[in-house]
Amino acid sequence: MKSLVISAIAMAAVDRLKQSILSLKGRRTFSYLAIAKQLAKKGFEVINFGVGQPDVDTPKPIIDEAKKALDEGFTKYTEASGIAELREAVAEYLSTRFNSNVKPSEVLITPGALPAIFLTYTGYVEPGDEVVIIEPSYPPYTELAILFNAKTLYIPLRWKGPEEGFELDIDLLEKSISSRTKLVVLNNPHNPTGYVIPFKYIEKIVELVRRVNAVVLVDEVYYEFVYDNTVFKSILSLDNWRDNVVYVNSFSKTFSMTGWRLGYLVAREDIVSRLTNVAVNIWSCPTSFVQRGGIAAIKRNEVMDYVKEVVELFRRRRDLMVSKLREVKDIEVWPSQGTFYLFPYIGKILDRLGINDEIFAEKLLYSKYVVVIPGSSFPDKAGKKFVRLSFAVDMDTISRGIERIKQFVEELKKVE
Ligand SMILES: Cc1ncc(COP(=O)(O)O)c(C=O)c1O
Repeated sequence: MKSLVISAIAMAAVDRLKQSILSLKGRRTFSYLAIAKQLAKKGFEVINFGVGQPDVDTPKPIIDEAKKALDEGFTKYTEASGIAELREAVAEYLSTRFNSNVKPSEVLITPGALPAIFLTYTGYVEPGDEVVIIEPSYPPYTELAILFNAKTLYIPLRWKGPEEGFELDIDLLEKSISSRTKLVVLNNPHNPTGYVIPFKYIEKIVELVRRVNAVVLVDEVYYEFVYDNTVFKSILSLDNWRDNVVYVNSFSKTFSMTGWRLGYLVAREDIVSRLTNVAVNIWSCPTSFVQRGGIAAIKRNEVMDYVKEVVELFRRRRDLMVSKLREVKDIEVWPSQGTFYLFPYIGKILDRLGINDEIFAEKLLYSKYVVVIPGSSFPDKAGKKFVRLSFAVDMDTISRGIERIKQFVEELKKVE
């Protein structure tokens, strides 16, 4: 009897997780993917527009270099901030690619972009601070604010319709930045809308943030996926980024390396050094042989040629998906300028049927076996009349999937 009491108390102790952790929601997008897997297991042919990664293989020179590193026994701890050769390669790559002047000592190699984002919050966000986020938004920006007991302030992107797409209300953003602001998070090109924030706004935001002595966290993981005549200019091309910018990027999307876990943070040298002191207590160092693969990714010309081909392929897929979606009554779609997502407006359908985006996505999944991600999965509320579709899938799948969505919408009408 006595031992039972003791074990009950012990269990209660592990249950005592911090309230901020209990408030985390996990990734809702993953729950749709889990249902899709179950349906596929039961034999249904699921079409998945929920994917957040390129469907192409990691380029071979990257794989070969990582294998070579393994064969050479390059399997031990490395420097906490990453091996010198990779930091140099990233600094040189960013400087050339973005007409910037990044030094190797300003680069911290991380296991993906997300850990770099986590480090930035760890470095700057105190309980009660205000974090400004453009919405709809990549969920971890909000989850981390919750984890660090910070307040979130959302700036909704304005939907101007299928011709003009999304627009940042820079005046609203200006009004929202105050002495309470600690961090402004910018994701450019923007997930989930595919909007590319014009550089004049980036310049303006840096100026606004400087006035209140806050930091801009800039996440450019989709920098390579930019289409048509859209001009994407990195924040790193500003001369004065060092005082107010913490920059995050990754190998995940560009080089189709999501599972490798390799990214980086760029900040002023002393900030990189301080944040390395945090990193070393979490992951010791980025994975040794993966870093060697990273060097091949940015140094080998054939890899960059391959990336360009992939982006061109994605542009054609985007065009197909847009033209197919335009055949679906009451769906309004704007061709994204960047990323590999479309974020069509389905408000007319939802309003007519009195359902929300989640019910729409669930019904579509269970009746037609097509995965789309409800816009409300991207905090806060601005996305709730939209769904996100990834065009990182082949042409045939796009055609068949959108055909199913078309049928689904027609049948929904019949139920009315
Ligand atoms: C905006 C954005 N930032 C960061 C990430 C994560 O990148 P990584 O896999 O390098 O951690 C994603 C992945 O979906 C993303 O959409």
